Amino acid sequence: MLAIIGGTGLTELENLRVNKRVIVRTPYGEPSQPLIFGEICGGEVIFLARHGMGHTIPPHEVNYRANIYALHLQGVTEIAAVATVGGIHPDLSSGVIALPHQIIDYTHGRQNTYHDGINNPVKHIDFTEPYCSKLRAKIEQAALSIGENLVNTGVYATTQGPRLETAAEINRLERDGATMVGMTGMPEAALARELGISYAAICPVANYAAGRGDSLHAIDYEEVVANVNQTMVRVRKIIAQLMTQHYCVVN
Ligand code: HPA
Repeated sequence: MLAIIGGTGLTELENLRVNKRVIVRTPYGEPSQPLIFGEICGGEVIFLARHGMGHTIPPHEVNYRANIYALHLQGVTEIAAVATVGGIHPDLSSGVIALPHQIIDYTHGRQNTYHDGINNPVKHIDFTEPYCSKLRAKIEQAALSIGENLVNTGVYATTQGPRLETAAEINRLERDGATMVGMTGMPEAALARELGISYAAICPVANYAAGRGDSLHAIDYEEVVANVNQTMVRVRKIIAQLMTQHYCVVN
């Protein structure tokens, strides 16, 4: 089954026909909110808002382990995660939607594995290709078929937050090869891989990253949120099309 994780600007899916809400407890604690089971265009899906229903959980305090484990317990095999980013590459201006193919982790102090503790054997997962190419292709096809041209590659730098970056930090991320920056990509992607769940990220660009484009001297976060809300209308349409094209029972 497919799950959608919503980020900033996507705390619910209006086109979701909700069947039930389920409170799930996991050995790692509770997920950000009860899981929402529903249907989009006849296809079954579970929705989870990463930052909680009222967007109250900041990126560094999200219980990523509980979120991904709760989905795993429901039999989720694929996750399309929506994660807002700042654009580092000049092509990634506000309103663009990107499908990253690589990720770099700059976070610290987050619970980032299921393989820790004395009773747990050490395990080193392969993470060469962090995102599932099949799921990325399905998302790209769905977008194209409704006339949405996604930027279909990119390197997502995950910063710790909750503050935005300095211009010098963005220069460093660019030297490292990053083309976009966000705060929630990790450890989410790695935890999904540990549980064998295919994972892809849909990244609406909300703003140019610090020191770039119109963010040369400052980032106006109010404006950022307004931009995200506009772009999310298109993200919802892409998700609806993804369901229709690839997960609908009639197809
Ligand atoms: N930096 C980090 N995370 C973000 C940004 C940014 O500029 N914009 C949206 N999420």
